[in-house]
Amino acid sequence: MTPRVLSGIQPSGNLHIGNYLGALGNWVKMQHDYESIFCIVDLHAITVYQKPEELRAKVREIAALFLAAGIDPLHSRIVVQSTVAAHAELAWLLTCVTPMGWLERMTQFKAKASAQESVGDGLFQYPVLMAADILLYQANIVPVGEDQMQHLELARDIAQRFNSLYGETFTMPATRLPLVGARVMGLDDPTAKMSKSASGTGHAVALLDPPDRIKKTIMRATTDSNPGVDFETMGPGVQNLLNIFQAFSDWSNDQMKAHFEGMRYGDLKKQVAEMTISKLEPIQKRYAEITADPAYLESVLKAGADAVRPTADATVRLVKERMGIYTETT
Ligand code: TRP
Repeated sequence: MTPRVLSGIQPSGNLHIGNYLGALGNWVKMQHDYESIFCIVDLHAITVYQKPEELRAKVREIAALFLAAGIDPLHSRIVVQSTVAAHAELAWLLTCVTPMGWLERMTQFKAKASAQESVGDGLFQYPVLMAADILLYQANIVPVGEDQMQHLELARDIAQRFNSLYGETFTMPATRLPLVGARVMGLDDPTAKMSKSASGTGHAVALLDPPDRIKKTIMRATTDSNPGVDFETMGPGVQNLLNIFQAFSDWSNDQMKAHFEGMRYGDLKKQVAEMTISKLEPIQKRYAEITADPAYLESVLKAGADAVRPTADATVRLVKERMGIYTETT
C-alpha cells in the first residue's frame, strides 16, 4: 500500500524559504511516491486571535503558494481543515480520552500561554486537534519539524490510549522524519530556526518578497568575525547562508567548498541573494497566475475536501461506534 503522508500548516505569518527548503520543496519532489494530504489548519490558527479578513486571505494565499511551488492537485490533496467537519468532531471525541496532565506538559502550550494575557481553552486543546488531523486519515508518515515532535508523540499516546480503551482503531503514526530537508535559521539570528511569526525585517525571506527586499534581507544577514568564508571555523550565520545556497542549487559539498572557500562575505551574500531570487521567481510568477483565477483555486480546495471527506467521515463513524455514541443504523 502507498504510505499516506499528512502534514499541516497554519494560515498565519508568511511562508518563507525555510518552509520551502525544509518542507514544501521536498513534498513537491516526493509527492508521487506517497498519497499526500496537506492541511491548511485554520482551526489551529484561531487558537490565538486572528483578524477575520486576514485569516480569510491567508488560507487562499497558502493554498496558492502550495500550487505555485508545484504541489500537484490532481494527485495530492490540499485541504482546508475547517471544510472537513470531521476534524473538529474527532477532536472532541479524543479530548474525552486525553488526560489534562498530558496537555499541561506541552512545551509549546506553556510558551504560547505565557505570551498571552488571556489564554483560550483552544490553545490548551491544540495538540488534541492536531492528533485528530493525523488519526482521522490513519496517516503513516507525518513530516514535521523538531518543534512539533512532542505533539506527534502525544498523538501516538492518544491513539494508544483510545485503542486500549475501545479496541484497535487507530494506526500508529510513525515518529521518524523521512522527508528531511534543509534546516534554515533566522538571517538575523542564526541560532534560532527561521520562523513564520517572527516579526521585523531581517529575519526571514518570505516566498512572496520582491527581489529588492530579498537582496536587502540577505545582504544584512549575520555572519562572523572571519574575513571571509572559512569552512573550518565558520560561525552559524555563514553556515546558514551556505546551506541556503546549497539547498537551492543542489550543489555537492565539494562544489560548495571549491566555489566559496575564502570568498568575501559581500560576494557570498550577493550570490546567495541571486540564487534565492532566481529560484523564487518562477514560484512568484505562477502564484500571480493562480491568484488571478480565484475560481480555479476554489475548485482545487473543494476537490481536496471532497476527496478526503469519505475517509474522514468513516473514521469518525467508527470511533463513535467504538465509544457507544449514537450512530444511525440505516
Ligand atoms: N502544529 C503544526 C505546526 O504548527 C501544524 C499542524 C496542525 C500539523 N495539524 C497538523 C502538522 C497535523 C502535522 C500534522 O507546525
